[in-house]
Amino acid sequence: MRQIARQARNRGLRLGFVPTMGGLHEGHLSLVRLAKEQADVVIASVFVNPAQFNEESDYERYPRSLMRDADLLIAEGVDYLFAPEPAEMYPEGFDSWVEVERLSRKLEGASRPGHFRGVATVVLKLLQVLQPHFAVFGEKDAQQLAVIRRMARDLMLDTEILSGPTVRDEQDGVALSSRNALLDDPGREAAAAIPRALRAAGEALAGGERAADPLLEACRQVLAAEERLELDYLALVDPESFDPLESVSRPALLVLAARVGDVRLIDNQRLEPPAE
Ligand code: PAF
Repeated sequence: MRQIARQARNRGLRLGFVPTMGGLHEGHLSLVRLAKEQADVVIASVFVNPAQFNEESDYERYPRSLMRDADLLIAEGVDYLFAPEPAEMYPEGFDSWVEVERLSRKLEGASRPGHFRGVATVVLKLLQVLQPHFAVFGEKDAQQLAVIRRMARDLMLDTEILSGPTVRDEQDGVALSSRNALLDDPGREAAAAIPRALRAAGEALAGGERAADPLLEACRQVLAAEERLELDYLALVDPESFDPLESVSRPALLVLAARVGDVRLIDNQRLEPPAE
């Protein structure tokens, strides 16, 4: 893979990279399309990264569908699929980790200790192998995106980090995620409260509310009405640092994580201060 990528670069081609853990859906494919618009050669990876799962059972049952994923990527015109084995990425004796320290301890990182260490490490390894001109990540995983951007800046990586917007189900607004495949019908209905809750905050903002507490409350009320849904965290934060914000006086991110049964879902909504 390293050789293929190097040859493409040496021929002056622009290399775009879309890392995934497979279980591909429209969200991933939209990132591939974004990459195709800007690259001569697009490489996608499928690697269910054991290092970023803090629960063994979550890793075991993570949806895996490599052949279907390959077909979808071919249909989108991806040039190469990199699908390494865990033993290739983490051989015997592997002992080097990347930690984006402060950011990785907040919110998603506090709920899933070690998760962002696993993400940052595998992303750096993939970027090292491919050295693409740019890599594309989904905005649904907002804190992951912030962690990767921070790492790329801090470690002076020569890869531009791009992002693509969250893709939602047209009917119920649920953000597309590989984990949605694990929801049964009642679970799916419960999950639909998440985009409704985010919309409620957006409507409160449009109605003149700017302070964090009432915006969060508008969101919480919608979530509380869905008894199958258990809220993990809900916060209004700065999109880069993930520090809490007291109001939407500058661009802000409303982030949440919730469990529906044993399926954990995350989502977010960008909130912009209304024009004066
Ligand atoms: O977002 C994902 O699918 C994964 O966290 C990533 C970026 C491919 C790293 O394993």
